[in-house]
Amino acid sequence: MALVIEKYDASRLESTVSMLAAAFVTNPLHVSALGPHQIEQNRLFFRIGLENMFTGHAFVALADGEVRGYMHFYASPYCLPPPEQIPSAAATMLKPLGAAVPRVVVWFSTWCRLDPKEPHAHLGPIGVSPEAQGQGIGAALMDRYIEHLGQEGIAGYLETDRPGNVEFYKKFDFVVQNEQEVIGVPTWYMWRPARQ
Ligand SMILES: CC(C)(COP(=O)(O)OP(=O)(O)OC[C@H]1O[C@@H](n2cnc3c(N)ncnc32)[C@H](O)[C@@H]1OP(=O)(O)O)[C@@H](O)C(=O)NCCC(=O)NCCS
Repeated sequence: MALVIEKYDASRLESTVSMLAAAFVTNPLHVSALGPHQIEQNRLFFRIGLENMFTGHAFVALADGEVRGYMHFYASPYCLPPPEQIPSAAATMLKPLGAAVPRVVVWFSTWCRLDPKEPHAHLGPIGVSPEAQGQGIGAALMDRYIEHLGQEGIAGYLETDRPGNVEFYKKFDFVVQNEQEVIGVPTWYMWRPARQ
């Protein structure tokens, strides 16, 4: 497999949306907010994210030229919308999510509230196509993020809803800072201290 990590470009919107929807459709937060097996709702969710929200550093992993992974990170304090903007986001860009909007609003309001005040580069989302997982693509994307943290001398921060992912992030020197349920889903908040 020829693996290339390159900057995300909007010309890859649809392939990236499809890949992320497949990667996240069984994640507990997505099931709780969007429903089980809701691949189309997940596609909508990620299209809204890619077009409006993931405006920091974004990369794709291309395996033999096909999008098999995506990663986004953004420097605080603009990594998440201010809590006061969430109601208007719910009424506008999130509106296509229909009945899922109230749960998505609680989800993101909670993450905004818990976002650390200390400067950090906030990771998320990172996802790899189900059929390409376990082959080092996630690690290759993480290496690009860790390189950025080192260059900037800044801390890393992320949220995750899978215990297995906690182990994945520990490999990159993240530690669990906090654990709290969101929309009925256990969620881990992880931090990687700044270093040069
Ligand atoms: C989490 C995710 C990005 C990992 O990507 P991946 O390409 O499968 O991971 P890699 O193959 O690069 O694995 C790197 C290392 O982490 C380990 N690892 C990966 N997933 C793991 C898990 N669930 N539990 C324990 N270890 C794990 C691998 O064994 C590997 O270890 P090694 O270096 O000792 O061989 C991918 O599983 C994914 O997209 N999951 C669905 C969406 C998701 O949950 N995204 C994260 C949201 S916070």
